[in-house]
Formats: sequence, C-alpha cells, structure tokens
Amino acid sequence: MRCRSRTSPPIKDTVSFPVGVAIDSRETAGPGSKLLLKHFNQVTPENFMKPEAWYNANGEWSPNSEIASLMDYAKANDLRVYGHVLVWHSQTPAWFFNKSATDSTPLTNSEADKQLLRERLETHINNVADYLAQWGDYGDGNPIQAFDVVNEVVNDGASPDTGGLRNSRWYQVLGDEYIADAFRYADAAFNHGDHTAVGADRPVKLFINDYNTEQSGKRARYLTLINNLIANDVPIDGMGHQFHVSLATPVSAMDEALTAGEATGLLQAVTELDAPTGTPESQAKFVDQGYYYRDAFNIFRAHAADMFSVTLWGLTDGRSWRDSSGGPLVFDDGFQAKPAYYGIADAGDLPARIRTANSFEGDVPATAAGAASGEWNLLPLLSAGANASFQTRWSSDHLTVYVDVDDATVDDADAVTVQVGSTDFTLPRSGGELGAVVPRDGGYTAVLHAPLSSAQAGDAIQLDVRVTDGDDTDGWNTPGATGTVTLVEPLSHVDVPEAPVVPVIDGTLDAAWSTSSSVQTLKEISGSNGAIGTFHLLWKGQTLYVFAEVADPTVDTTGSDPWVQDSVEIYVDGGNAKNGSYRYDDTQIRISADGVVSFGTGDEAFQANRLQSSAKRVTGGYVVEAAISLLEYGGLGTVQGLDVQVNDATGGARTAIRNWADPTGTGYQTTERWGVASLVEGTLIEQTFVPKISGSAVVGKTLSVSGAPAGAALTYQWLRNGSAISGAHAATYKLTAADAGKKISIRVTSVIAGYADATKTSAQTSVVLKAFTKTSTPKITGTVKVGSKLTATLSAWSPKASFKYQWYSNGKAIKGATKSTFTPTRSQAGTTVTVMVTGSKSGYLAVSKISAGKKVPLLALKVGPTWLNGPTKVGGTLKVTPGASRPVATVKTYQWYANGKAISGATSSTYKVKTADKGKRITVKVTYRAQGFATKVVVAGPTFPIAAR
Ligand code: XIL
Repeated sequence: MRCRSRTSPPIKDTVSFPVGVAIDSRETAGPGSKLLLKHFNQVTPENFMKPEAWYNANGEWSPNSEIASLMDYAKANDLRVYGHVLVWHSQTPAWFFNKSATDSTPLTNSEADKQLLRERLETHINNVADYLAQWGDYGDGNPIQAFDVVNEVVNDGASPDTGGLRNSRWYQVLGDEYIADAFRYADAAFNHGDHTAVGADRPVKLFINDYNTEQSGKRARYLTLINNLIANDVPIDGMGHQFHVSLATPVSAMDEALTAGEATGLLQAVTELDAPTGTPESQAKFVDQGYYYRDAFNIFRAHAADMFSVTLWGLTDGRSWRDSSGGPLVFDDGFQAKPAYYGIADAGDLPARIRTANSFEGDVPATAAGAASGEWNLLPLLSAGANASFQTRWSSDHLTVYVDVDDATVDDADAVTVQVGSTDFTLPRSGGELGAVVPRDGGYTAVLHAPLSSAQAGDAIQLDVRVTDGDDTDGWNTPGATGTVTLVEPLSHVDVPEAPVVPVIDGTLDAAWSTSSSVQTLKEISGSNGAIGTFHLLWKGQTLYVFAEVADPTVDTTGSDPWVQDSVEIYVDGGNAKNGSYRYDDTQIRISADGVVSFGTGDEAFQANRLQSSAKRVTGGYVVEAAISLLEYGGLGTVQGLDVQVNDATGGARTAIRNWADPTGTGYQTTERWGVASLVEGTLIEQTFVPKISGSAVVGKTLSVSGAPAGAALTYQWLRNGSAISGAHAATYKLTAADAGKKISIRVTSVIAGYADATKTSAQTSVVLKAFTKTSTPKITGTVKVGSKLTATLSAWSPKASFKYQWYSNGKAIKGATKSTFTPTRSQAGTTVTVMVTGSKSGYLAVSKISAGKKVPLLALKVGPTWLNGPTKVGGTLKVTPGASRPVATVKTYQWYANGKAISGATSSTYKVKTADKGKRITVKVTYRAQGFATKVVVAGPTFPIAAR
C-alpha cells in the first residue's frame, strides 16, 4: 500500500462533524498519538469511564488512573471527550446490585432496595461529575462534551414482558424508571450542578446508546423508549448508534437508522463504528472494506445537520475488540492507512477492487446458439468495464466465456479478449475461430472457448476479460492486472414452476404440489448416511413455496442449539446476487422437525416476517412446509439463489449435514456456492374425478350424478346410447319412454381455478326398463293347515307378465315350493308361511311382491297310556313305560317327583328309590315332543308311599 500519510487529508477535515476514536493510554503517546491527533478531534474512553473503572476491588471510590491520563491528554491536545458510560448492565461491579460490597445479598424490587439502588446510582453519577470537574467547569474548558447516560437498555428480541427493555439487574430492581432517573441525575450533575459554567446551556449532551439500531426490530423498540422519554420531559439530548456492522450490513440500513433517529428531534451520534471484513483477511477484502467505509461516511455526511459526532471504535486493527472477525478499523497495526482510510477521506485514491470469482463447471458451445443459451441467465454477469459484462464456465480443456457488450457502432478494432494466465485470446467483433459473435440491438454478444489444460475443480486461474471499443479497451481488472477465478462444481439448477393455486401452509401435500419440481439433498457435507430430504418447490407472486419430506426414522430435537436438532434449512438469495457474504436480503431459514424456526446471520425480525411455516412428524420422518417472501425479487423468468439442507441429529448431536447445491458447508456464511432456481411457468393440476350415476334405470325414475369435485363450476350433458339428449343439462335426469331399451351416461365438464378443465364421462347404466303400470300383492287362499293346498292369488297386473313364485316358511325359502300353489307339510306346522310373486316381462323392470303371512297350526299328538311300575320301597327301581305315539316317533323327556317335588337329577325312564323318599309318593312326568305337533305332557302315578327296604 502506498504511504500517503503526509499528503493525505486528516479525516476530521473531510467532514463537518467531530470525528472520534475510542482509546486508552496506549493511544496517548508515540505514533498512535500522532496518528490520533492528525485525524481525530474527539475521544471516547474505550473502557475507563465504565462503572467498574471508578471503584477498587473493595467497592471503594477509587478512579482508575487511566481516567485522569485521558482527561489530561484531551485537555492538553484540545480534544473533545465523549464520556462512556454512566449506566450499563456490563462492566459494572457486582456489588452494585447487592446490599453492599461486603453483603452479597442480591437487591430485590422491595421499596427499600429500590431506594438503595436509586441513591447508589445518583451518588455514582454525582461522584463522576465531581471528579471530572477537575479538568474544568462543564461548558467552560472541560473537555467533556457528551456522556452516554445509559447503554444497551433495549432488548435484542421482542419482549412484551419487559416492554421491550433488557431484563438487566437494573431493570429487575428498579423497573424502567432507572433510565429516566439516570438522565435526571446526570442532567443535574453535569448541566445544572456546582461545576456547570454559569450561563452554559446544557454543555454536556446526554445520550442514550445502543447497538443493532440498523436492524428494524431493535430500532423500533429503541425509538419507542426514546419517544417515551421525550414525552415525559426527560432531559435527553441524543441518540447513539453503535454501528458495530460488517461488510454484509447494507450501508442503507445505517441510513435508515439515522433517518428514523432524526425524526425524534434528538442529536444523532455514531458512537462505536467498526466493520470487520470477515476472515480470512485478504487485501481484496480490505479494498472492499475501503469502499464500505466510503459509502458509510457519505451517508454520515448526508446526515451532518443532526450529527453530533462519528466515533471509530479503536484506532488500529490490533486494538479492536472485533479484530478476530477481520481487521475492522481504518489503520493497521503499523499505524498505516488502510483502504478504509482512503474510502473515508480520499476516495479517489481508493485502490481498484481486487477481483475474484468462481467459475462453475459446464460447457456451452462457442456458437451462435451458445451465445443465446439460457445458461447465461443463471448467474449475475461480472463487469468487464463500464459497457460490458461476462460470465464463464469451465471444463477440463477449455473455459467458456460469454460476453455481452454495449457498443452501437461497429468498428474494425472492436474485439473481446480473454486473458488466461499470460496468454490473450482475442475474438474480433467480425468473428473468428475462437467462437461466435451475435449482433444485438445496441451491441453484441460473444461466446468463446479459451484453452485450459487438465483443469480440475479447485484450480485457480488468473483471468482478465477485456472489451475493445474502437480506441478504448476496458476490462474486468485494472489494466495489467488479472483476477483470480476458482474452478468449482457444476452449478445446481432447478426450474421452479408457478403454483396453480396457493398451497396452504399446514404440512399437508395439497393438490398444488402435484405440479411442483423438486431437488434432493444428495451432497454429504459431513457425517455419513445422513437423512435425505426431498424438497418440492413452487412459486407464486412474490412467494417461494417449499415442501420438504425428510426420510429420518429417528427424529431427534433434543440438542441445545437449533442446528444440532433434526431440521431443514432453506437458503434464499433473492434475485441471485451471489454476493458472497450475506446481503441484508439473504436469508438462512432453519425449521426443526418440531416446527421451531431459527435464522442464521442477519436481521431476525426481518427474516421472520418473510416466513410462514409448518412442520409435522410423519411415518418414517417429518415434513416441513414453508412460504418465503422473495421481497421484490420474484416473478416469472427471474432467478433466485437457493440451497436446501438437512441437519440430521442423534442423541442431541448433529451427526450429518446434507445439501442440494453447496458442497463446502459454508452456506451459512456465503451465498456464492448456492444453487439457482429459475421461476418458470407452471402447469395446471389434473382433475381425477369420476362421475357416477345413481338411481334406477327405469322409465319415470330420476337419475342423478355424483363424484364431481367440490367448488368446481360444472356443466352436464346426459347421453342416450352415447349421444347427447337434447336439453338434458341438469345434475339430474328423469328417464322417459324414449330411453326405454337404451343405456344412459353423463358427460361432466369441471372448471376450477388452478386445475386443467376436465370433461369426464360416467359409465353407462344398464338398459333402461319400462315399469309395469299395475302390479299387485299376492294373497294366500285356502285352508291353512298341514296337508291342505294353499294358492297364491293375484289381482290385476299390467301389462301381462309371467310370474315366478317362491314360498317361505318363517321367512326362509322352502325348497322346491315355486309354484302358484303349495301344500304345507308337517315341516311347516307351527310356522308362518308367505309367498313372493315375481312378475317379469322382457323390457320391463321385474317386480316382486310378498304376501301377508299365514300361520300353519301345529298337529295334535296321539299317545297311548303311560305306565309306572316297580317296587315302592327304598332301593327299588321304578320304571315308566311311555305310551306308543302316532304317527311319528317322539322325543320323550322325564322328570320324577316325590310328593310333587321335582327330584333333582331324576330325568331318565327309571328311578331308583332313595332313603329320603321313604313315606313319600312318587310320580313321573313324561313329555312327548314331535316336529309339527303340539307338545304333550302325561303324569303317571302316584305310587303308594315308599316303604322301608
Ligand atoms: C468493549 C470494549 O471495546 C472492550 O475492550 C471491552 O472488553 C468490552 O467492551 N458496546 C459498548 C462498548 O458500548 O462499551 C463495548 O466496548 C463494545 C460494545
């Protein structure tokens, strides 16, 4: 880097507001001090006015000697001092929130404890103001111009419970009142105290300070608090923006923060600016950082009217609290100006950016067709000077370079030159062996192949692409330089169809998903056998829809970090900027198998606002459905940077990561290796319904149709033997005489938004029959008894039909009883007999009618006399001889009685008299049963009383 420090302007001379730097005694002597005094006119004590700097280990008032040395230095060198900080949750002795330095009982929110902490706060502020008054009255010689009164009191996330405030020990004991109190105490001490110069008007500006004000959520909470303080007449003068940013923080976010801050009417201050490059550090990144500081300071200049000061949080990189994130400051450790300095103070001397790019593997013919290939729409073009842009693909033996040139006037010298290493390959506009040139309105496109030898992924080649327009040549690099192109994997690309209807985000695959395209996470980034996800993709309007199906038999969400839980990640680079480090609009969305959402770097509230999602456990894994706003980047024909990832966890640890596109595992830091989604036209959903006819195919009956989709606009056409029936366009159809003998079907046309119009025809009905005009129910006539003939009599039936009969006994068809007459046998005795008559005639609907039932009486059983014999003494065997029964064999059962009481178990035809029967008379009951006959019961006996044996 050139050493220009002697001729380069001091930073403070390039802006109209004070510029500060955070320091301690290391910057108050030697080359650091020289550099400081050249560029800055204000200092902030980086650490040594924080609460802990004023006390010794025993909690006694004992200001750190750094305080005096900073004040001496400021006073001696006419530097303004921005005090930092009176009230903070950090770098504050623990005893502040205990009973005392020797009694570690924590303070509660009891009235007594509150009062104690209030007094401690006021005493602290008064002591600070008294101590610092040694360097002069405020407003009359004292270097202190401002003080951060409270620092970082706003919560990082939404926190309705604390009204958006940080739940610090200050808040826990005092609630929100400590903030207003701190301002009142500071105002009294610095602006209306014993050490305030007579007549001075608020000589020490009182600031509130916080970080992430460039992020909308935090900023909203911060502004709510500030506007409340103002509304309550709290003596507050300024609003501080720390701006600990990074090169991926859009400078426009700082612009928005300052603009929003100005609306409060308060002074604005950039209190702690730094912007690390990311690691590893490189000269290329430091040059980019130079452009970043340039743009940031141009924004600060635009806000000069309300700007109290802009402070860099450190003088040299090695002294920065964020040095490990990549040299965040303006001067290096040798006190030399970095590009950042030139960006701020002398932008004309900012070095050219150092070019690096990736080339994805691929091959496109160096022909007119190749120049027109859609492949070149997939990535942003790199600039080859002001009027041309280019893109490359590589294969083992050549680099394909596509160049688009704005150059309306054809000139013999016009040409495209690709330099690989030190060799130039030139394709004249008039054409040549290397490739093809295709004219277009206002210019031309060219595609050429430059030879490579045995190129492999991972190789870096030195490249320049230059375009000659007449006498002028301009290129990707500054003249004489080349950029570094790294050869990487083939670009992952997917066409995403427009959704025919908006999917409902509920974790179910609605019909819209039948038209989606999909990608799978087949690249294993870490681990082995990791769960694979299939991600279905659709878009509509400004929304990308994703439905992930993850095959993972054991779902584990027990890990303490979201990325070590079973989860999917969706990376979206709206508009496919392929910027490298994240832009504000780039998002890394993580959704766990339980549906818990988290994000990678960036503004959380902003990202959350773009997402709607749902997750569900399913057999064999889980699904995640998401709708992601593409902000303004979406629409037909656009391309989006996209990657998807599955984190596979087991037992609380992440065991595998798989991605679709980026093979490097660094997608959470850089967008450059993500894949590309092209938003293309969609297809309509197929309709699969089958219309069905219900109702009987009989003249006079009405048929109806079912099975058509709900919510559709339906039109109908009824068909007779396949031909349209004129006028039959309703959902129902009443069969007419003309339909007799024909088959009916229906053609249904269904129209639903998002679905392809469909016309489907039902199956045909059976042949349509006529109906008898008159039928009748048969009557059973004749004497109803066994052996006597019964007749089924019918009255009118028209037209004349032939009849079939079936007789039934107790509802069961009697085998062979299929004539118009039937003679009941003993089998039917005691049952109810009915008859069904079926009248049929060709072309007519057969009709069956069943008669009323008739009961066939049982027959009477004739039985001969029943005899009881045997010795009537204990031990004797009595025997009953049943009478002969006619006409059939009967089933007989017995029950013996003693004195009329049934003898248990005595149920055979003989009975051996027991001792217990002595003196009793024995009888026996014989029951005769036979099918078709009434049961008969005969009692024989009694015997004489039973004698002893
Ligand atoms: C930092 C200092 O730079 C570090 O040296 C120290 O270790 C921690 O604090 N916001 C603030 C500053 O308000 O006080 C912090 O300073 C950085 C974040």
